[in-house]
Amino acid sequence: MSRTARAQAHPNIALIKYWGKRDIPLNLPAVSSLSVTLDSFMTDTTVTTEHADEHDLIVINGSPLTDRPAARVSRFLDLVASPDRPRCRVESHNNFPTAAGLASSASAFGALALATCAAFDQDLDPTRLSLLARQGSGSACRSLWGGWVRWDRGSAADGRDSHGIPVAPRDHWDLSVVVAMVGSGPKPIGSTAGMVRTQETCPLYPGWVSSAEADVAEGQAALLARDLDRLGAAMERSTYKMHATMIATWPPIRYWRPNTVAVLEAIEALRAGGLSAWSTMDAGPNVKVLCRTADVPRVVEAIERTGVAARPLGVGGDARLV
Ligand code: PMV
Repeated sequence: MSRTARAQAHPNIALIKYWGKRDIPLNLPAVSSLSVTLDSFMTDTTVTTEHADEHDLIVINGSPLTDRPAARVSRFLDLVASPDRPRCRVESHNNFPTAAGLASSASAFGALALATCAAFDQDLDPTRLSLLARQGSGSACRSLWGGWVRWDRGSAADGRDSHGIPVAPRDHWDLSVVVAMVGSGPKPIGSTAGMVRTQETCPLYPGWVSSAEADVAEGQAALLARDLDRLGAAMERSTYKMHATMIATWPPIRYWRPNTVAVLEAIEALRAGGLSAWSTMDAGPNVKVLCRTADVPRVVEAIERTGVAARPLGVGGDARLV
């Protein structure tokens, strides 16, 4: 009998960043990380079992996936439901740009883990879903929960201690993330290839790894104390350290565009004027600015003055079945 399940998950943005893997097939990170789940941006995924064809059919935003991206999703379905499972139809929609450093793979594999388990009648708790989602895309293990989430590096070789852990609920703190949409095209190099190149060629990489756990502890303490200046400083420090390792990789990985720097300077100017707003960037040119929700209009105005569109987002909720 064919079964259908539909799930939604939000992307998350790392405050303290993950870059580097201690195990590539299992997506085990070299460092722990800390994130906030976003509202409004969302992946909505429907999985139907017993698709009549010989192959899975995977459709993202209306276009069928082929080749390696399709194989990646099929492998993930095998992981959840065993390789002799029936073929599936997977239909997924993002209401925001895909693969542009806006964490679309996090919400995608979060929603896919939840929908696939439900379609195959597996009732998994969020921690086990997080362990599965991690194997699709590392950062996806943080998207099962709303609010503020830590991902521990763990030390087990099979990864059983490396999953998301909710640190504070959605209503813990009324902060917002304003996304400065510098560019929405696909990124020049994907995160896994970028991490491998960094690990292989960047002389700064050992320093990045050895200082990361203290950054997570500092970020978490600031979060629990609701100290925005302290959290923002820990976040920016983690961002610049991560991008420094990327840029000192050979050939260099530089996701920034000129408008990335224009936005960074606009946020520094706001801070010089007394407003607590802090920047972070991922594997793409966009800047995400963390600030108090009451300060969003001033942050949006400062970003838009640079000619870049701004999209304010709040703190989002858990991944859920629909
Ligand atoms: O899990 P991936 O492959 O999407 O890698 C995410 C890496 C960063 O976005 C740059 C940092 C992070 O912690 O999300």
